[in-house]
Amino acid sequence: MRTEQPKVIRLQDYQAPAYLIDETHLTFELFEDRTLVHAQLVMRRNPASEGAALPPLTLHGQELQLQALALDDRPLGGGDYQLSDESLTLQPTSAAFVIDSTVLIHPENNTALEGLYKSGKMFCTQCEAEGFRKITYYLDRPDVMSRFTTTVSAERQRYPVLLSNGNPIASGEEEDGRHWVTWEDPFRKPAYLFALVAGDLWALEDSFVTASGREVALRIYVEPENLDKCQHAMGSLKKAMRWDEEAYGREYDLDIFMIVAVNDFNMGAMENKGLNIFNSSAVLARAETATDAAHQRVEAIVAHEYFHNWSGNRVTCRDWFQLSLKEGFTVLRDSQFSADMNSPTVKRIEDVAYLRTHQFAEDAGPMAHSVRPESYMEISNFYTLTIYEKGAEVVRMIQTLLGAEGFRKGSDLYFERHDGQAVTCDDFVRAMEDANGVDLTQFKRWYSQAGTPRLQVSEDYDASARRYRLTFRQNCPATPQQAEKLPFVIPLALGLLDGRGRELPLRLEGEAQAVSGTRVLALTEAEQSFVFVDVDTRPLPSLLRGFSAPVKLEFPYSRDQLLFLMQHDSDGFNRWEAGQQLAVQVLQELIGQHRAGEALRLDPRLLDALRAVLADAALDPAMVAEVLSLPSEAYLTEISEVADVDAIHAAREFARKAIAEALYQPLWQRYSANRELSRQTAYVAEAAHFARRALQNIALSYLMLSERAEVLEATVEQFRSSDNMTERLNALAVLVNSPFEAERDAALADFAEQFRDDPLVMDQWFSVQAGNTRPGGLERVQALMRHPAFTLKNPNKVRALIGAFANQNLVNFHQGDGSGYRFLADQVITLNALNPQIAARLLAPLTRWRKYDERRQALLKAELERILASGELSSDVYEVVSKSLA
Ligand code: PHE
Ligand code: ZN
Repeated sequence: MRTEQPKVIRLQDYQAPAYLIDETHLTFELFEDRTLVHAQLVMRRNPASEGAALPPLTLHGQELQLQALALDDRPLGGGDYQLSDESLTLQPTSAAFVIDSTVLIHPENNTALEGLYKSGKMFCTQCEAEGFRKITYYLDRPDVMSRFTTTVSAERQRYPVLLSNGNPIASGEEEDGRHWVTWEDPFRKPAYLFALVAGDLWALEDSFVTASGREVALRIYVEPENLDKCQHAMGSLKKAMRWDEEAYGREYDLDIFMIVAVNDFNMGAMENKGLNIFNSSAVLARAETATDAAHQRVEAIVAHEYFHNWSGNRVTCRDWFQLSLKEGFTVLRDSQFSADMNSPTVKRIEDVAYLRTHQFAEDAGPMAHSVRPESYMEISNFYTLTIYEKGAEVVRMIQTLLGAEGFRKGSDLYFERHDGQAVTCDDFVRAMEDANGVDLTQFKRWYSQAGTPRLQVSEDYDASARRYRLTFRQNCPATPQQAEKLPFVIPLALGLLDGRGRELPLRLEGEAQAVSGTRVLALTEAEQSFVFVDVDTRPLPSLLRGFSAPVKLEFPYSRDQLLFLMQHDSDGFNRWEAGQQLAVQVLQELIGQHRAGEALRLDPRLLDALRAVLADAALDPAMVAEVLSLPSEAYLTEISEVADVDAIHAAREFARKAIAEALYQPLWQRYSANRELSRQTAYVAEAAHFARRALQNIALSYLMLSERAEVLEATVEQFRSSDNMTERLNALAVLVNSPFEAERDAALADFAEQFRDDPLVMDQWFSVQAGNTRPGGLERVQALMRHPAFTLKNPNKVRALIGAFANQNLVNFHQGDGSGYRFLADQVITLNALNPQIAARLLAPLTRWRKYDERRQALLKAELERILASGELSSDVYEVVSKSLA
């Protein structure tokens, strides 16, 4: 907490560290009311730093009580060093020296969940980005890499398991029932990858033999009651290990790999070397308690953290401006893995829908920043969709431009060249350039320029000359601190279809030969034309196939053309995309009618399109489910100049109801066939089963809009008798959003009774109710905050209830009187003191005020002002609020 304004940290001010830490020897003495941390740092001057005289040494440190300090075994007194709230400064007297410090800390009172803290009965750490400085005085920056040994001592009874990074090398007993274990990590690492865990944990054990034949012990540590929920994560881990060997040539490097599940965690998971610490929601999964989506999320996050062992740990970031170096690349890697494990097209659809809804909104808001930001106040605020998701898109574009083989050559060179180093995004791109003999200078604007480019496309067909011209115009809106943008390199994958939906051979003017199928054009100018020759009939372009660049594409497709693409495009992603664009057009028309006070009339072509898709037995049911999903209210908001929350909701609900009525028969048929299959087969967490359950569930949610008795009966039956959480939770959600109050209340009570001891399941129970769009949403959420299973101290609970309400229940959150805003601001103010990172994330919906009408703008801004005036703000909350009001 601070009284002055946080200072701005700038990339341009980066300086190499004046000192290095070769070895770090830590000893932790854990007690119930305090922890003592002793650190021995073997240091020397950085040979790369300039100047003759030895500069002072400033170590980071926050909320530490210094007990003792020595330089080369010489105890230092008060006059020998200076302490501030954030640092300790002393003057070394030689170029190589050893510092010993002992500090007292209070993990038992740490509600920010950064540094060393307690989650329930266990101790754990979270050091990224700058949490290690809350553990001991240190050079807490990623370009200082050190070899660590860690000794942990604690009461044996309460903490039989004591873990840290690397391999255990010694252990022993002390008097008074205490014991200790020493761990040694042979790999140099920055402090943000340090981890410690102590608790009464059980492990699921397994092993993996690497490509070169080394055996690695695998362990997933959980509290005893969760041991039966680790199989899926273990299976995912082994698949990820094999996949990284095959796809990227990356082998695991220690003898042991551990995952620990903790209930109180700010993010999804953390890639600490050899000891990943996970939010329990990202590890635990079994049929009875976790949905298909949860299973897929576990698979993806386990893989993501594992992949960091190379993209993040072996090769790490020089400074936090380079965060996307590890996160963007690793998100791309995990998405490629998930695509290979499941359906590539469906995975791409999910990722793109997510990016366009949430990252595009961030890019258009007050916190917009580039993939490699130029400045920040609080680095925790920069673990964003832009760094992660857009960062992944940027690396994906490099792959699209270089081709799969060229990209692999580049990644091999990157890992080989920079193993053991802390590097920059420029180094990554240079490896790609050097391995392929290409120049990516202009491409790098994707790292430095924020904002989502618009790409306007127009066509011109000359039948007599058999020439077809496509003209592309790109521009990127201004973002904070960046008024003008230069043209991006946009890889545009496209194909041309003839009147019967066949791919035309593609020959550009001046080329000797035609290419068949998809090809990639590299757009580099603000305005640029490409002329295809030998084009016999007027083609229909299929543009930006696979979403080959994170841009907003504009092409004046007619609805009939979109229908045609939905049926014929050879690119699965673009078939879905055509359906979405059609739905967007139809919904926007309805929104307009609602705003004009007219009766709503749905274009029947949307119904015809969906009917055809439902009838297509050859189509992957997961694709059918995706096509049936109308663009979300959040996406419709994002693409509106000024979003009319009520009109968007009314229009979308009207369309859903019309679909339910018009397609009742085929929906019912698809529902019951799949429900029957679910009844006959035991739950399997595999793509084909995810697919048919997805279709079953979306069909049921449409069917309920008809409010027919047979649907109610089927829903209640599914709720009561299904053997898995996917079907059960869907039935519950369908009941919650239905008018059948008695059945809804009975199901909610039943569910809470059955799962009250399982916090992750209770999170889902909270979320389902938070998302209920019927009137009275805020009151329901406020009542649920008083439920015994709810606490503001657990981030998952905050996200499940308050986050879900503000982000997914838009009609209720944006209620015209501003009560939703006031409520959210109140929670942010409370959380600011408890957990600044969660507070800052929670307030994101308030920052989007520019999207709404004047009245709502005023109400939203008033709440931001109220937060600003509420007292001592954390740097996290201060940065987001002040930038939003600027
Ligand atoms: N580095 C983690 C990941 O993306 C995320 C994280 C960041 C976790 C900061 C905790 C704190 O895998
Ligand atoms: Zn990551």
